[in-house]
Formats: sequence, structure tokens, C-alpha cells
Amino acid sequence: MRQPIIAGNWKMHMGRVEQAVSFARQIRQALNEVEGVDRVLCPPFTVLTAVAEAMQHTQIALAAQTMHWEEMGAHTGEISPVMLSELCDYVILGHSERRATGSTAETDQSINLKVHAAFAHGLTPIICVGENLEQNEAGETHAFVGGQVRAAFDGLTTEQALRCVVAYEPIWAIGTGKAATPTDANRTIGLTVRGAIAESFGEEVAQTVRVQYGGSVNVDNIASFMAMPEVDGALVGGASLKPDFVELVRRGAGASIG
Ligand code: 13P
Repeated sequence: MRQPIIAGNWKMHMGRVEQAVSFARQIRQALNEVEGVDRVLCPPFTVLTAVAEAMQHTQIALAAQTMHWEEMGAHTGEISPVMLSELCDYVILGHSERRATGSTAETDQSINLKVHAAFAHGLTPIICVGENLEQNEAGETHAFVGGQVRAAFDGLTTEQALRCVVAYEPIWAIGTGKAATPTDANRTIGLTVRGAIAESFGEEVAQTVRVQYGGSVNVDNIASFMAMPEVDGALVGGASLKPDFVELVRRGAGASIG
């Protein structure tokens, strides 16, 4: 049995401390009461401490949205695993919005370094993978996403591999209102994500790792994803910024077949 996990990725929203804390207080009691699903909030760095305080004495976990792999050093503006380890339990790594471009772009290689660094500091990585529209239409999803998974898991021990959370987020489904079909998400997670893990770590590990779907998940479609046997949760963007995120999590927990 895999315990489902639903995470709300706030991205670069809820930026003012007062706004973030007020929203966190608004949802915390009801969110804390939902059973049968791990609940995670992923606020921006600058409000992480304040939201962590607001979530004290609840079972709601926090995640950072990225981090550097080094513990310390001359990396202006970066956030290290040491800085995060007292504040949160999880860290999102390799989100497609960070893999994309720019000097801080995350690559398969740097994501793998970050996965190792996360474990070295007691953080659980939520590893994001997913193909773009062109790759999807060219039938390259299996090869591309499988490669991302293999690269991220490279060199992990079995115990570490078991603890990883993977988020399959097709890029064309993120923020577009055009989610993957639950059947397609189920197939890619089962065949491609678990398939790639099984190649290196065996079928038992592949069947134990929790894999979320992400991309235009909302209160109306969450149940259809959670009802899929390979889908263990969701990484939610836009819909996690509204109070009915609690209802989304409730419906997800209710529909999950674990
Ligand atoms: P949306 O739910 O807004 O499509 O974002 C998904 C996502 O990128 C979560 O990490």
C-alpha cells in the first residue's frame, strides 16, 4: 500500500508574509483533519519560516520549491539543504519551470546532485519529470521521461530510492487547464516512471515509490486521477492557492485506492 501524497506548489504566489500566513491559518485545521493522505504545502522561500510556524502542531508538511546541492559556499542568492533542513521535510527538484532556461536552469545532472544532497540532509525529494508538447506528439514521452527518471535516481541506495516521490507533470498540462487524461497519466506513470525505476532498483522498489500526477489538477478532476491504480497523489499549482484546496485534498483522499 502506498500512502497518497497531495502537495500544493504555491510557485511565486502568496509572496507577502501576511497573505501567506493568513491563507495557511485559513486552511490548516480542515486540511489537518483530512485522513489517508499526506499533505504538503510548498511556499516560496521568503514565507517558509512564517508558514512553518503557522503549521506547528499539525501534520501538514512543508516543501521548498528548489535548492542548491552544496551545503555552503560562494553561491550568491542560492538556498542550501542546510538552510532548509530545519524548516521543511520535502524539496521539489527539477520542476519544469526551473529545468527550462537561464543560468540557474536545472539539468538532469544537477538534479541528481540535488537528490543526493536532499538525502544527506534528511529532506525527501519530490522529483519532477515530464515531456513537452512536441515530444508528446512525436511519441517521445516514454524515452524522454524514462531518461529523466533514470538520471535523477542515479547512484541512490535502495533505501533512498524507496523514499523518493516522483511528480509526473507533462509540461503542456501545466497551467493550461488542459490536464492529461487520467488513463494517459496512469499509463505513463506505470510503464515509464515505474518502468525506469524497476530497471535499476527492481520491481518491488518501483511498486513502492510514490508517484504523483501534476498539471491542471483541480477540485473537479482530482478524484479521477486518484482513482487510477498507478497514481499516488498530485502536485497542484493554481488550485492550491484557493481555500477549496482543502476540498480538493478531501476528494483526492476519498477517491484514492492506494
Ligand atoms: P497547475 O496545477 O497550475 O497546472 O501547475 C502544476 C504544477 O506545475 C505543479 O507543480
